[in-house]
Amino acid sequence: MTTSKIDDRPKVGIGLVGSGFMGRCQANAFATVAGLFDVPVLPVKTLLADATPSLAAKGARDLGFARATSDWQALIDDDAVDIVAITAPNTLHEPIALAAVSAGKTVYCEKPLSISSGSAQRMTDAAEAAGVVTSVAFGFIRNPMIRFARHLLHQGEIGEVTGFSGRHAENYMARPDAPHSFRTDPHGGGALADIGSHIICIARYLLGPIVEVIGDQTTIFPDRPVSAGASDKRPVEVDDMTHALLRFENGVSGSMEANWAAKGRTMDLSFEITGTNGAIRFSQERMNELLLYRDERSKSGYVRIEAGPDHPPYGQFCPAPGHHLGFNDLKVIEVADLLGSHSGATNPGPDFREALKVQMTVDAIAASSRTRNWTVVET
Ligand SMILES: NC(=O)c1ccc[n+]([C@@H]2O[C@H](COP(=O)([O-])OP(=O)(O)OC[C@H]3O[C@@H](n4cnc5c(N)ncnc54)[C@H](O)[C@@H]3O)[C@@H](O)[C@H]2O)c1
Repeated sequence: MTTSKIDDRPKVGIGLVGSGFMGRCQANAFATVAGLFDVPVLPVKTLLADATPSLAAKGARDLGFARATSDWQALIDDDAVDIVAITAPNTLHEPIALAAVSAGKTVYCEKPLSISSGSAQRMTDAAEAAGVVTSVAFGFIRNPMIRFARHLLHQGEIGEVTGFSGRHAENYMARPDAPHSFRTDPHGGGALADIGSHIICIARYLLGPIVEVIGDQTTIFPDRPVSAGASDKRPVEVDDMTHALLRFENGVSGSMEANWAAKGRTMDLSFEITGTNGAIRFSQERMNELLLYRDERSKSGYVRIEAGPDHPPYGQFCPAPGHHLGFNDLKVIEVADLLGSHSGATNPGPDFREALKVQMTVDAIAASSRTRNWTVVET
């Protein structure tokens, strides 16, 4: 009996920085993507970097990487690494990305792009000058039902858009004993930057640029434990909750909330868009459905549309409707897009430039909360 090699696609080396929540999620996506999508290149989990040798060794073993290092610069310098995936805390995104860009590598960076618009601008300028492919992990827009919502809007299914209301509400900081972490770092932390950036990205994806904002930021808990279980506390310098009014470039008026202390909410990344002829509604807590209301068809209220193969790329995962995708599947879609862009296909984004615009919107909302004035988004 003879065997033959059946897959001669080129291989690309993945260098992953960080092996926490998102490191695991990305590693899982790199492991499974080629079995679900006809990707042009095959990812190889080559090298993992984490903060210490033992964290790196454990991360590499747990997540299936061939080698480990405690020096992210060594990962970037490694000839076998073609794509640098950044899942380290936000303050590290800029130095790691700039080093990867100067080495000419594709950069896949977790959101938010960085800790300020200035930092995100430096990253974007460097990446564009070097001509490297970039991708930023605002993965929720990969949801087939959000893509479908955009299709419906472009088709005019709800008429002219008249209003947007968006929210990202979770409860992971809803207790006063939830400790400090990089998420509460005064440099780039807070609910608005951490999760508000997701709903801003979705708003831009669906309705286009946001040009003017006014925000109101609140710190609910004045101090938090310095680490998990510690009795020592330190003041909180970032927002737990932000509300904002938004004015879109197309004239539409909108509002948003970012709230990581939302009792009872696990993943209410949601929006409602009204139009002259109907409305669309979505929440990530029920990520496999979209609610659609149209005057002429559903006078009694919203009609539920369930995810299925009619909503690409759902069919890559399952030929039958109603079997449901999950959060990790969105990462697989994101990684499939990344491997395509890395190989020369049009980058569907969000790339660094798009993530910079999200960051500028975050910064404008925070600035307006300080000045109590409407603020132009400098994009
Ligand atoms: N796309 C999403 O839905 C989503 C969800 C959660 C987090 N994130 C983003 O992902 C990033 C990481 O968040 P997380 O929840 O995975 O955090 P985490 O704390 O679970 O993981 C961070 C990892 O980075 C490592 N690290 C810290 N310093 C390092 C260094 N100097 N060199 C190498 N590794 C280092 C940590 O040891 C850890 O393994 C953040 O930017 C966050 O905003 C995105």
